[in-house]
Amino acid sequence: MTNRTTIQLEINGQTQALEVEPRVTLLDALRDHLQLTGTKKGCDQGQCGACTVHVDGERVLSCLTLAAQAEGRKITTVEGLSGPGGELHPVQAAFLEHDAFQCGYCTPGQIMSAVACIREGHAGSDDEIREYMSGNLCRCGAYPHIVEAIREAAKVMS
Ligand code: FES
Ligand code: FES
Repeated sequence: MTNRTTIQLEINGQTQALEVEPRVTLLDALRDHLQLTGTKKGCDQGQCGACTVHVDGERVLSCLTLAAQAEGRKITTVEGLSGPGGELHPVQAAFLEHDAFQCGYCTPGQIMSAVACIREGHAGSDDEIREYMSGNLCRCGAYPHIVEAIREAAKVMS
């Protein structure tokens, strides 16, 4: 028996209504119900960070957040980071400039995490960046370039 409920989510500045079962995660709501596939599923258990999005400006793992828990809060995904004219966010631009990705699958989560990391004031040194970005795994081993990109983006954003 399905037990669907209608929820309203504010995603990247737009309110969207969707009918989902209460068990649906924010990650699956974004990917499967709203076709926002930028947010990735690497593990679905809170261990990889590929699903990182912002809820009310804070980084969260969308695989461990129920869609219903995000109702009434502001959600930002990687698709919502660029400016109104499509200009890249400084963190996106820095990732390109510094080759901070290879396959690109961890990248949306890395970028969302990096934006929050800088905003939290945790980009003060390379060691601090490494520590506060350690919740985002990258199998391609782009870590040195990710640190470089965040260091440079933090300068632009300060
Ligand atoms: S998919 Fe959420 S942490 Fe891996
Ligand atoms: S760029 Fe491939 S996993 Fe990070």
